[in-house]
Amino acid sequence: MPTILAIESSCDDTSAAVLRNDRLLSNTIASQEVHRQYGGVVPELASRAHQQNIIPVVDGAIRNAGVMKSDIDAVAFTRGPGLLGSLLVGVSFAKSFAQAMGIPLIEVNHLQAHVLSHFIKENDDSEVPQFPFICLLVSGGHTQIILLKSHFEMEILGNTIDDAAGEAIDKAAKIMDLGYPGGPVIDRLAKDGDPLKFTFAQPNIPDFNYSFSGIKTSFLYFLRDQLATNPNFIAENQADLCASIQHTIVSFLLKKLTKAMHKTGIRQVAVAGGVSANSYLREQLTALGEKHHWKVFLPKKQFCTDNAAMVGIAGYFKYLNKEFADISLPPYTR
Ligand code: KG4
Ligand code: ZN
Repeated sequence: MPTILAIESSCDDTSAAVLRNDRLLSNTIASQEVHRQYGGVVPELASRAHQQNIIPVVDGAIRNAGVMKSDIDAVAFTRGPGLLGSLLVGVSFAKSFAQAMGIPLIEVNHLQAHVLSHFIKENDDSEVPQFPFICLLVSGGHTQIILLKSHFEMEILGNTIDDAAGEAIDKAAKIMDLGYPGGPVIDRLAKDGDPLKFTFAQPNIPDFNYSFSGIKTSFLYFLRDQLATNPNFIAENQADLCASIQHTIVSFLLKKLTKAMHKTGIRQVAVAGGVSANSYLREQLTALGEKHHWKVFLPKKQFCTDNAAMVGIAGYFKYLNKEFADISLPPYTR
């Protein structure tokens, strides 16, 4: 019955969680507001904020879990990919903690952690996916269709060749001056808009791959043309613009996902990563699942964006395999 402390610091969220086996006891997150005014994550500011947050966040996670430091059997940490300065704070903290307590370290890949977030257990006993299943991983940095054969046997079937889906949504929001990160704002504003009001071309990319830079450019040029004749175009059409760009991105995501489902014949599908919090994506995937008789797994909203609970569950499965990390391991950015 291992008790695992998990630490996530790959981008701009400092998070710590405590799990007993696969059950989550606490999950504490400090999000960094400082980046909003710059319209994106400033790496230097992110690592400084992690330094300020890491001790109170870990302390909070241990206290909220109702455990003692001495109850912890291992420390799981995100080793990469992410921002180097951000990763270093979590990695160094995890190493010091493990060394001081004389317990093993477990390194976790951030993307695997997102995918494995489906296996986090809380007080309810919600169903978990059975292997094999397909997972659409959509975050600010990644867009992949992954075939999972077991917890750690993951085959990447499709990938973006340029921007990630979350990056495209954030850039569209930035063009409309909606602040950073724009994904949640577009999600909210789109609820009052018509998803079919404006159309933006979906690129022709082979296989199960994605490309989002063309969608972003066509959105930018469309707005530039409209603003030339009506300077209030964005303000007057905000909800429809949000709904339409969201529809373009989500339907492209689901088109390739459907292709992968048909090709593999697998009937269980999951989504993970920050963009899987998007309500339109969740609705559309649920409807698609009903149509094709797939079992659809949507993570709880708190496990979509970056969090340490997902690092903890990945760490738990590695603990069972006795896959421990050496104290000298450096973080990796890609
Ligand atoms: O997984 P995540 O927290 O960090 C990375 O590993 O990248 O994902 C962050 C991304 C951002 O692009 C953010 O705008 C997007 O997830 N996001 C959303 C929503 N919530 C977060 N995008 C659309 N709708 C949302 N509700
Ligand atoms: Zn992430």
